[in-house]
Amino acid sequence: MDVSSLFLKPKGSAYFDSAATSLTTLPVLQKMQEYYENYRANIHRGAHHFTRQASEEYEQVYEKLAKFFHASSQEFVSVRNTTEAINAVALGMEWKEGDEVVVTEAEHHSNLLPWLRLKSKGVKIRIWEADNVGKLWPEKLAPLVSKKTRLVAFTACSNVLGTKIPVKELAKTAKEASSGKALVLVDAAQYVGHHPVDVREWPVEFLAFSGHKCFGPTGIGVLFHDENAPLQPWFVGGGTIREASLDSYTLLEHRERFEAGTPAIAEWIGLGAALDTITKIGYSNIEAHDKQLVESMLKAFQGQPHNNVQLYGPVNAEDKSCALFAFNVRNLPHHETAVMLDQLGFAMRSGHHCAMPLTKKLGVEGTVRASLHLYNTAEEVEKFGQALKQVSLLA
Ligand code: ALA
Repeated sequence: MDVSSLFLKPKGSAYFDSAATSLTTLPVLQKMQEYYENYRANIHRGAHHFTRQASEEYEQVYEKLAKFFHASSQEFVSVRNTTEAINAVALGMEWKEGDEVVVTEAEHHSNLLPWLRLKSKGVKIRIWEADNVGKLWPEKLAPLVSKKTRLVAFTACSNVLGTKIPVKELAKTAKEASSGKALVLVDAAQYVGHHPVDVREWPVEFLAFSGHKCFGPTGIGVLFHDENAPLQPWFVGGGTIREASLDSYTLLEHRERFEAGTPAIAEWIGLGAALDTITKIGYSNIEAHDKQLVESMLKAFQGQPHNNVQLYGPVNAEDKSCALFAFNVRNLPHHETAVMLDQLGFAMRSGHHCAMPLTKKLGVEGTVRASLHLYNTAEEVEKFGQALKQVSLLA
């Protein structure tokens, strides 16, 4: 599918760093500019027509989210990013000594540190092992879950290995093994830009993602929160109260109690435009393009001479959730490889990718990561294969 009219691609380099942040679609930029130019005002604060228009545009995004994820519009909370959404759950649940949280070793720090911090409250953190290509198995999860398990947290797609994760099966295992007691949180940061989600179908109580990884602006994210799962606000302040006195306050219901202070209005409206773009393109087209990219990237890696390139994670297309590949060129430090590839026209991240435990499990200090998306082409992949060969033969 030709999406060149929807994205402004950077000139001079192929952008292979979409797992860090995707490109933004033009309709997102236009929608945000429209807000700043035509009706810039705060929301839900006053009666003039600019604030009414801003509030209406803002509110519409909840309706879009509800349709997009098959939930109620009351179940989505505006946050800054995935990290904030996950911290909000860790801070907003009431914990007692002896509670348990199960989390995988394949997480980025945002879905690990907020749980580790709960140790100071006497919460036991149980680590769920991934296999050596980042797969998560229900058989490994079940023995870790008991009636003490309050929450099971896992990624829908590893940001280091791009491994396909059977979310539905794992969420069901968490429920069954805890006799329905454990809540499930899915980190969908690397997933929402690539695959459709039905939160009822999975089923999960919490889902977190960032706008900037699914063609939206930076500084905006979403927490899906099942209304039946108890959660206290992590902040209170303007916008969250029904009544306040110098002594006390009562909070609003549902999501409004969670959104204290003036939110990122333009970004939230921009996120709505990103969801519209995905709907317009269609997930089936995104998935079909991803599949082609995965297959051609695997061929590019397999075509490297003398086993010079070490690829981590799955080597079969069917085990990949998206076109995301961690690799190293033998004898070459990861940052050096990334700089050489940058000079040859490929922008990609190198390092531990904010997932130190997983990187250590791979037995390395870091990797180079190529992460592609809808706007990358077969021609770019072919040139990448040649550039990688050039670098690996120099090493
Ligand atoms: N979590 C983001 C990444 O993987 C920032 O690059």
